[in-house]
Amino acid sequence: MSHDPELVRTGQETIVKQIRFVPSGKQIPCEDGDTVLAALERHGYALPNNCRAGACGECKTRVVSGEFDQGLVMDMALSGEEREAGYGLMCMAKPVSDVLEIEFGTEDAKPKLFPPRENAPYVLTDKFPRTPRIAELRLRPLGAPMRFWPGQYVTLGDPGRNIPERCYSIANIPNREGEIALQVTYQDEGRTSAWLHDELRPGDQVALSGPYGTFIGDPTAETPVLCLAAGSGLAPILSLASAAFLRGGFKFPVTLIFSARTSADLYDLGLLRYLEARFRNFSFRYTLTRETPSGDLSGRLPGLLPELFPDLSGHSVYIAGAPQFVEASAAAVRQLGVAEERLHTEGFVEQGKPEAPPGDRLL
Ligand code: FES
Repeated sequence: MSHDPELVRTGQETIVKQIRFVPSGKQIPCEDGDTVLAALERHGYALPNNCRAGACGECKTRVVSGEFDQGLVMDMALSGEEREAGYGLMCMAKPVSDVLEIEFGTEDAKPKLFPPRENAPYVLTDKFPRTPRIAELRLRPLGAPMRFWPGQYVTLGDPGRNIPERCYSIANIPNREGEIALQVTYQDEGRTSAWLHDELRPGDQVALSGPYGTFIGDPTAETPVLCLAAGSGLAPILSLASAAFLRGGFKFPVTLIFSARTSADLYDLGLLRYLEARFRNFSFRYTLTRETPSGDLSGRLPGLLPELFPDLSGHSVYIAGAPQFVEASAAAVRQLGVAEERLHTEGFVEQGKPEAPPGDRLL
């Protein structure tokens, strides 16, 4: 492994330093002016962070070698002893030496789950139909915003009024306002979905608990990705895919295939087409199971896969939707060779409570 410092000049005279991970030896460039945290995120790595301003200490990382400008941070976030032991706050740290080595192993590079909160107060700010059966709810926090990873879910209900709590995937990506978007399928026998579709009005206050779940992207994966979604399973899949692209840096091909019953059940096509136009390595297809489409695929997705992807042994696969869809699709991709550790499924959590206590899921 070469340890030669590398100072790169690009066409615009941008000076690029290198950040090297210990122990993996992997390195990423850090453009002049970028913090270590910004450079990591630009290249698809997740480092826990909260305030992004040197006040909370959550991004604390040990710097193994090299110099950096720590900037102005609070003593309670980084003590004198920690500084002496080589720790720094990566949300404010900017490399000074050509190479900065930080402790950031493969396991460290995986997203750490945020502790879930119970009954956080939110206001429904908007509600609109996405398809004849799926409504989108937009919710804003009254207190501190919930911190989550794309692909996670929350629970929502009103047990005091006999409306059971149900799980809903978060459909958007973390944002400054702390807004959470949920896409709720109307269930014929579902008291909670009927409440959300028919009774809850913009301006009403609700209590959200979460975030839960480990259906989150692995930023260390360096493989092509296949995403399969059915119905409102599109919510977590699209949240994961947009985060990977909009955060920047995901270089491998990503194919998203959406399965819907009829053309009226297709939604978010605008965003999907936008991602496709903007990112060359993203492609989108859909299949209709109860209608002959004009132009794209037709029929159930598991049956179409062998022809579309005869060999998935080098892929990561994400699947979300109704349990039968997830089960059949997972069986199909296993047949096509996907490695078990690269198969991620979300069996439509909307139907019930999380199967494991959230506390058990903290990394
Ligand atoms: S994110 Fe709060 S100190 Fe870095």
